[in-house]
Amino acid sequence: MTAIFTFTLLILFQISFGEELNEEKRLLLSDPQQIQSEIHALQQEVEHFKVLAAEFQAQKQENQALKAEVADLKQTFGLQEADLNQRFGLLESSSQKSGSIYIRWGKHSCPKLNGTELVYEGTAGGSYYTETGNGANTLCLPHDPELLPDHFTLKSDGGHFSHIYGGEYQFSLGKVVVQDDVPCSVCRVKMATSSMMIPAKRSCSIGWSKQYSGLLTANTYYANKNEYLCVDEDPDFIERSRQNENGRLFYPVKTICGTLPCPPYKNATLVSCVLCTM
Ligand SMILES: *[C@@H]1O[C@H](CO)[C@@H](O)[C@H](O)[C@H]1NC(C)=O
Ligand SMILES: *[C@@H]1O[C@H](CO)[C@@H](O)[C@H](O)[C@H]1NC(C)=O
Repeated sequence: MTAIFTFTLLILFQISFGEELNEEKRLLLSDPQQIQSEIHALQQEVEHFKVLAAEFQAQKQENQALKAEVADLKQTFGLQEADLNQRFGLLESSSQKSGSIYIRWGKHSCPKLNGTELVYEGTAGGSYYTETGNGANTLCLPHDPELLPDHFTLKSDGGHFSHIYGGEYQFSLGKVVVQDDVPCSVCRVKMATSSMMIPAKRSCSIGWSKQYSGLLTANTYYANKNEYLCVDEDPDFIERSRQNENGRLFYPVKTICGTLPCPPYKNATLVSCVLCTM
């Protein structure tokens, strides 16, 4: 039966997605019924292709949308990464550049604490204990001074100058005896921004780190003022001389009750001190 109806069908589909489906057919045949059914089948196929084309188009659009989204995310992520890197860098450099400094009086070294480092060590210097002028504070003079250049000449008013002397203990404690010279260390605490000496304390408040504790000192009461400083409770001395050369003197401080409330203070008693950082 099939031999009776020969039928050649040439279909040329030119499917361009997004455009109308073009078709070109050439039919060579006799039975109209057969032709009808073939046309119907072809129409169905064309419809099917149309559906597929529409699906493809939708898929393409979806892909484009996803691509755009990925690009967007990449950009956002990239920016966030750069931002984080920058913030981290700032944090690192701020921890490098910040920190808190204090002077540990009476020691060649800084406390063996995590994050505490020696900046330099030196010898205590200040005003002669009976001189009324000079500077009021006490300095930590480095062991390797750099002199002003030779050509540095000046004339001071009336030929007067200020003086600086070395420092001497005026008490014996541990390995230190009276007249020993007083060392000092400049210490830096990397992860801190504050440091303070608290008189009459041996411990620090919550949140603060104790660096060292010791004995409160200053000049003797009948001479000239110097400065209240906290000398480490295990003092070192400078191996140089035990001669009495005086200079900037470190006397232990004692309380005098009256205006100073006793209790909590006790009369004629040595005063503790602590150095705290945060
Ligand atoms: C110091 O800190 C480092 C790292 O935070 C730690 O590994 C080390 O054990 C600490 N040392 C002391 C003496 O606490
Ligand atoms: C406190 O001690 C000083 C020195 O020893 C003494 O002169 C003074 O009288 C004392 N004051 C009191 C209130 O005990």
